[in-house]
Amino acid sequence: MYRFPVLPVRGIPLTNHIANNWDAIWAFRPDPSDILIATYPKAGTTWTQEIIDLLRHNGDADACKRAPTPARSPFLEIFSPPPIPSGIDLMKDMDPPRIIKTHLPLQLVPPAFWENKCKTIYVARNAKDNMVSYYHFDCMNKTQPEPGPWEGYIPKFMRGELSWGSWYDHVKGYWMEREKRNILYLFYEDMKENPRREVERIMKYLDLSLSDEVISRIVELTSFEIMKENPMANYSCIPELVFDKSISPFMRKGQVGDWRNHFTPEQSKMFDEDYEKKMKDVNMPFRTLI
Ligand code: A3P
Repeated sequence: MYRFPVLPVRGIPLTNHIANNWDAIWAFRPDPSDILIATYPKAGTTWTQEIIDLLRHNGDADACKRAPTPARSPFLEIFSPPPIPSGIDLMKDMDPPRIIKTHLPLQLVPPAFWENKCKTIYVARNAKDNMVSYYHFDCMNKTQPEPGPWEGYIPKFMRGELSWGSWYDHVKGYWMEREKRNILYLFYEDMKENPRREVERIMKYLDLSLSDEVISRIVELTSFEIMKENPMANYSCIPELVFDKSISPFMRKGQVGDWRNHFTPEQSKMFDEDYEKKMKDVNMPFRTLI
């Protein structure tokens, strides 16, 4: 029923609902207090949303649930394809500050986010694990184009043909602008390695100051195991028609290095050679194992 096509917007393939609503998206005006989480899909968006929401509610998960603005609602994307309501519509009834997520590459982020100097947190994940996670997501998420077989998916990723475009350009785009635009740039692997350190970095960036005890609670509540069981965070609210969880759960493995279970040695070599060329102009500290 779904499997929406993608259409290019300024050269970036986006689902047709986004492309068809592009003028409204581009004109969207956030409040200066709104917080933007930007990622290439499957880099750790939901995890970061959960951390920020708990930080803003002093680690009180019940307060997050009661909040008049369901800030960490998985729906709060600038625009999502139906049946998920559009974030632009939802936000009309929500008081700022709102935690808004987007997968748009930097050049397609509505300019009012930068004009209003909204705090922006970008999360990047190493290309191989990011692709593996995206592949499983595309298999189960019926709003995404058919992924086809794994061996054909790798070249599509490498050519930037998946929804939201090139991973390489995406991670580099925000990286190059991080200082100029005051973007907090995080890595999924750092969050896995030392979640407390990264939670504290986010806390400081948001000008919050919480007790050690509360920080410990947030680290615990945002562990993969707890989030997997948390309906506020695990996307179990999305209808089966859209997310077919019999194919893959949203909270799938949450690991660094799962790519080794998917890439053959030949695929890995071919991917790495191409990666070197595409990433040679930046010195980005990605890790594929920790
Ligand atoms: P996997 O498919 O590798 O398991 P996003 O929220 O951007 O869509 O990213 C989803 C990926 O982040 C999934 O990766 C998911 O399991 C992982 N993830 C979500 N919450 C996590 C957590 N608390 N700890 C580690 N990984 C998490």
